[in-house]
Amino acid sequence: ATEETLVLVKPDGVARGLTGEILARIEAKGYALVDLRLVEPDRDRLAAHYAEHEGKPFYEPLLEFMMSGPSVAIRLAGNRVIEGFRSLAGTTDPTSAAPGTIRGDLGRDWGLAVQQNLVHGSDSPESAARELSIWF
Ligand code: CMP
Repeated sequence: ATEETLVLVKPDGVARGLTGEILARIEAKGYALVDLRLVEPDRDRLAAHYAEHEGKPFYEPLLEFMMSGPSVAIRLAGNRVIEGFRSLAGTTDPTSAAPGTIRGDLGRDWGLAVQQNLVHGSDSPESAARELSIWF
């Protein structure tokens, strides 16, 4: 069935000028851009988005990183787009993410307290609904 997912081009992706490259990969795959905005999230928005990670060692660095500059938030639609975008993105750690994926081709470990991994994609229909309501 057609689904929607939340994709973020995170601050590292925007700062490195990779928004176009990442959008091109999404569009080439054939998913539909339904809505798109540049967002500078405050702490409350990020605390809601990352509620499941509260208390983890990378939580504070993650919020600081996500407040370091704008992200591009995308409402993306398509059949099985949740699974499909996560496949395009590659695994969380960009060092081991497969070549051919966004993280595998464009990301690396910068030796920081947080993984700067360029993009976010919702991991389930429930997460997608929750996250889309936070960013749009
Ligand atoms: P994402 O999957 O969008 O949401 C959680 C984020 O936390 C993840 O991307 C990474 O940016 C970061 N992250 C996850 N695991 C770690 C980790 N072990 N160390 C540092 N950062 C992490």
